[in-house]
Amino acid sequence: MQVPAPAKINLTLRVRGKRPDGYHELESVMQMLTLADTLTIADADGLVFTSSDPALQTEANLAVRAARLLMAHCPTPPRGAKIHLEKAIPMRAGLGGGSSDAAAVLATLNEFWNIRLTLDRLAALAAQLGSDVPFFLDGPCSVIRGRGETVVPVLHHTAGHVVLAKPAAGLSTADVYARLHAEPAHASSEHLPETAAMIAALHTGDATVIARTLVNDLEAPAFALLPELARGRQRMLEEGCLGVILCGSGSALCGICPDATTAAHAALDLTNDFPWTATARFIVPPL
Ligand code: C5P
Repeated sequence: MQVPAPAKINLTLRVRGKRPDGYHELESVMQMLTLADTLTIADADGLVFTSSDPALQTEANLAVRAARLLMAHCPTPPRGAKIHLEKAIPMRAGLGGGSSDAAAVLATLNEFWNIRLTLDRLAALAAQLGSDVPFFLDGPCSVIRGRGETVVPVLHHTAGHVVLAKPAAGLSTADVYARLHAEPAHASSEHLPETAAMIAALHTGDATVIARTLVNDLEAPAFALLPELARGRQRMLEEGCLGVILCGSGSALCGICPDATTAAHAALDLTNDFPWTATARFIVPPL
């Protein structure tokens, strides 16, 4: 059984304040991309985990933790599984690769082992694994709120073309949030104007409108930690990107392009400035 585990970008990411538990209260429009890791799951005795990146072959990997967490919630002990992870999404990039792998393992093993946990139960396990994991159980585009545990899908059919570029240095999510000076969060059920603006932009299907509606509150702390990001953004704009946004907490940047050709040319040209570049499209549901 082979399943893709797609990357994500945050088209908007507003931090609404710091919570008493140390996490930040967020509101974000998240979008899955066609760039994806691939998980292959087969029968085995016990849990066997391998990866195209040997450095990831540890019990600490979020995909393994997801499998073990699900096992612990099985009414009868499942037979095992052999999980192979083919990595395409870079790490410490803000593209959600590890979270997506974990969500794909939860959803796939739930079927594979015939456990039949409801989506709500799976989502609760996902939230225990990491803030971005619940988003990947749904999608392909959603507004997330809270720490990331509230996921409300957004239906649109805009297949945006993007170029992604990551500097050699990665960023740790915890480090970026630690640099953010956020006031205490106040409970609010009101949606932010930036969220509504992005949903409207996605419905226009116009890349220029989407590009000028991008916002990410984590850019200030991430750019302070990694000043080369400012130069990187400039280079991407010179390559024809209509707008450039930091992917989550970084360190990858995402450029919104007018079309696939511009994205492909940019990805090629940017290899002089970045060790990793890629093109991708927004995943959209079939019409
Ligand atoms: O939940 P996850 O393990 O992905 O979060 C990594 C770190 O990012 C947390 O330890 C926390 O410092 C920070 N974070 C936050 N607010 C969020 C999500 C993450 O402060 N909503």
